[in-house]
Amino acid sequence: MILLTGGTGFIGSHAAVELLSGGYDVIVLDDLSNSSFEVIDRIEKISGIRPKFVQGDVKDVAVLNKLFGEFPIEGVMHFAGLKAVGDSFKYPLEYYSENVVGTCVLLSVMQAFGVYDIVFSSSATVYKPSNDMPLSEQAEVGEQSNPYGRTKAVVEKMLADLALSDPKWSIAILRYFNPIGAHPSGLLGEAPNGVPNNLVPYITKVLTGKLERLHVFGDDFDTEDGTGVRDYIHVEDLSLGHLKAYEFLKHHSGVNVWNLGTGIGHSVFDVVRAFERVTGRSIPYEISARREGDIARCWANPSKALLDLEWKAERTLDDMVRDAWRWAQYNLN
Ligand SMILES: NC(=O)c1ccc[n+]([C@@H]2O[C@H](COP(=O)([O-])OP(=O)(O)OC[C@H]3O[C@@H](n4cnc5c(N)ncnc54)[C@H](O)[C@@H]3O)[C@@H](O)[C@H]2O)c1
Repeated sequence: MILLTGGTGFIGSHAAVELLSGGYDVIVLDDLSNSSFEVIDRIEKISGIRPKFVQGDVKDVAVLNKLFGEFPIEGVMHFAGLKAVGDSFKYPLEYYSENVVGTCVLLSVMQAFGVYDIVFSSSATVYKPSNDMPLSEQAEVGEQSNPYGRTKAVVEKMLADLALSDPKWSIAILRYFNPIGAHPSGLLGEAPNGVPNNLVPYITKVLTGKLERLHVFGDDFDTEDGTGVRDYIHVEDLSLGHLKAYEFLKHHSGVNVWNLGTGIGHSVFDVVRAFERVTGRSIPYEISARREGDIARCWANPSKALLDLEWKAERTLDDMVRDAWRWAQYNLN
């Protein structure tokens, strides 16, 4: 059985479907601070199997002790955490507590119960902004531009120290680039509360009339059209990467790091145009000032994942946008 912390969230819910469809037994631990219980019904609807669910906080030792005591958990995918870059400037203690302390508590309980396989959700924000593109896993880590990125870098260091202390640990650090898209059924997707921080949920809110216009943060970056360039990856491709990484851990110990990206950079305007193509509507936008910490360009060299895991992202930007739009139409109204 695999424990998915944060398994009712955006990425965790897609990973749950992938694992259940692959024959794994899944138990979800989520405090529902950024997701809802209905996601469990939807995971069941898609996969035909209902995952076990426990509502609780990953920082709560008693909850974890009970969970590991009651269920035959063999490995963990750790998604639970906070992820809004902007908020991390305002609430650094919450970010360190959820992301760093939460992981520390989880790892301690795993160790106590002799569970040593973990897949951790890291981020491309751990890389030094001055690295050349594309980013391989050897690119320098450091000088993260925001507290969120620093919490991920701290956890990566903690995992490396843990692996050094005991060869029983098998750890996968997955550095996600920009996960977007949704399940093609329209049943699972990204549902941020309030005004979204990320481009795609923002655009879908504009298209469904919830927000008036898109704010493009900066059109004077050193990129082809002046807007920020990112490596968008479909959440379903990302989920398959988790399954492959977990299977790799069965035969390899120590710390293993993989970039999960497509290797292709798309600008803000590329994404806007893809939405316009897919929906047949135009997206009103205005140029606003750059946001603190935003870098011009970021995309992956994903070849290590291909080599080690035989994994590669297959879906195009239009696939991602089509699925995100279907999800938005079914759920945002
Ligand atoms: N979405 C992205 O763009 C992105 C990029 C890089 C890395 N990540 C990382 O991937 C992971 C999953 O991201 P997501 O986009 O699915 O986010 P999400 O907010 O949709 O999912 C996180 C889930 O964790 C739960 N959670 C939060 N704190 C918890 C706690 N203390 N105990 C139990 N549950 C808790 C939330 O209720 C939510 O369901 C996060 O660690 C995030 O930092 C996300």
